[in-house]
Amino acid sequence: MVSMSNWTGRLREISLGVDDPITAAAYYAELLDGYQAGSDVKLGDHTQISLRKGPKGLSSVGIDLLSEAAARLQTNVDSYTADADGNRLQIHACEDIEELSIPTRPTLGHLTLQSPDPLSQQYFYEQAGFELSEALGDFFRWLRCNPVHHALAFSRGSKAGLHHIGIELPDRAALIAACDRLAELGQPIEYGPGRHRVGGNLFVYFVDRHGFRFEFFCELDRIEASTFVAPVHGADDRQQTVNIWGPLPPDSFRQVS
Ligand SMILES: [Fe+2]
Repeated sequence: MVSMSNWTGRLREISLGVDDPITAAAYYAELLDGYQAGSDVKLGDHTQISLRKGPKGLSSVGIDLLSEAAARLQTNVDSYTADADGNRLQIHACEDIEELSIPTRPTLGHLTLQSPDPLSQQYFYEQAGFELSEALGDFFRWLRCNPVHHALAFSRGSKAGLHHIGIELPDRAALIAACDRLAELGQPIEYGPGRHRVGGNLFVYFVDRHGFRFEFFCELDRIEASTFVAPVHGADDRQQTVNIWGPLPPDSFRQVS
């Protein structure tokens, strides 16, 4: 049984800048097996991807937070603020956070962002009640705001950017079915399938026609023990942590959008 105190927030939405939001929403609804609603793609557990006309890239991130945590972030009248890298956040202050189990259909699960300073991002999000789940030297930070191993992750890079959007699937059968759907749509896989050591999840990555990278994943760890202490791996463990099955990412995997 998960205690209420473990649920201080959840990732709700990501907005992406594209040239033609309606056309892009139709494309992503098919690619991700979601439902189009105008320029939004509805995914499981009331999560969504919103397409907005604008420069290609991350437009904003929507996060639900308990009111007491939201109050620690200074937001403007529209509830927008910016994190330590200037990523635009829309904070939804809530009296309680809907507790979720394993999703029954594709669901927005996490974002991995490149950051010039992952530690500053960690400190920023800790103000909002996030907790460290795992670390790799000072190179990578994985943060959770509920028992799901991570909702946000930050990898060190020269500039801030979006590395990938994680879509959680119910189970490994759904992951294989998703790979078959990608093949039918002519969408090649960039990396995977494999299994991450950090978080324990099965993964498949692909870069879509707009240049955004997605991860389909399942079997991600849940952290419920109050005595949990975040493992901190040495920076030299990077290659061993990325894929316990062996193959390393291609060079293209360093690119961000
Ligand atoms: Fe991921």
